[in-house]
Amino acid sequence: MVGDQIDTQRCPACGARLPEGFLPGPGGRPGARCGRCQALERHRFLALVLRAFGPFVSSAGLVLDVAPSRHTTHVLHELGARAIAMDFDPAADGRDVSVQASLTQVPLAAGSVDLMICYHVLEHVPDDAVAMAEIRRVLASDGLGLVQVPLDQHRPTVEDPGADAETRTRRFGQADHVRLYGWDVEDRLRAAGLDVLRLRCVDLVPPATRARYGLMEDEVTWLVRPAAEAPGRLLRAGDLGIARLDLLGRVDLAEPARRPVRPWHARMKGRVLRRLPQPVRRVLRKIVRGDSRPVRPADG
Ligand SMILES: C[S@@+](CC[C@H](N)C(=O)[O-])C[C@H]1O[C@@H](n2cnc3c(N)ncnc32)[C@H](O)[C@@H]1O
Ligand SMILES: [Zn+2]
Repeated sequence: MVGDQIDTQRCPACGARLPEGFLPGPGGRPGARCGRCQALERHRFLALVLRAFGPFVSSAGLVLDVAPSRHTTHVLHELGARAIAMDFDPAADGRDVSVQASLTQVPLAAGSVDLMICYHVLEHVPDDAVAMAEIRRVLASDGLGLVQVPLDQHRPTVEDPGADAETRTRRFGQADHVRLYGWDVEDRLRAAGLDVLRLRCVDLVPPATRARYGLMEDEVTWLVRPAAEAPGRLLRAGDLGIARLDLLGRVDLAEPARRPVRPWHARMKGRVLRRLPQPVRRVLRKIVRGDSRPVRPADG
């Protein structure tokens, strides 16, 4: 491996090499923004997760991308996803939106969506229970959602949809946010009938890779799926028989075909794993630390 491949930061969303590193982002946050595609840390993490789930994304009959980010839209295109982009404000941030609708009233049939991406939307929605119920409704029984919200990891959700703009900015971080979620967002998702698996960057991506891709250790996204019965369950990687996930094997843009993955020791077992769609099970098996076979291009 060449030295600069180790040291140079790379954007997993657009593939850019960034010898100068990532640029400051909102509020001057250091190392936040890709100078080429403008992706922030959360977009880069989502890009990694989407690539890790590449076979599932590619074979999904329908992907619903709510409030699409251009940084990850092109990853979906690259993976050949059949995606609908939806926002209730088609002009928001110049998004490329194909359906103008609210997450509280999605104009799609029940069970029609195989993969939903819903990043940084729920904190804008006054009645998030309705929105979460819609996520549950439109997801296919073996469908998956990737949900992220701004998170205060140190206290429960605070909300006040009736607050004025100044108060919202102060309490929730932005004038158009109606709440700031705590970890109890998981309870809300479960109450809507979704099983919830917390995907934490710190668990999934080794430190050197986090540094290379400019990821935040405490980045978290939630993988949700329709629960067999409400309330849904809080799943953990351990529920899937997984000691540790490692996204690196599938997303290292420098040497995707050659990098050996580590020997597999854990057995994938349990009801939860069996209930996941077959393409996801395949992906999880391959990204579990521990498979002694080299990663072939067909795996990547
Ligand atoms: C902060 S942006 C998130 C954009 C992108 N997903 C990201 O993570 O960068 C919030 C977006 O949510 C959209 N939005 C807010 N409420 C919505 C609703 N009820 N239904 C659909 N979209 C909504 C806004 O129009 C805006 O485009
Ligand atoms: Zn980029």
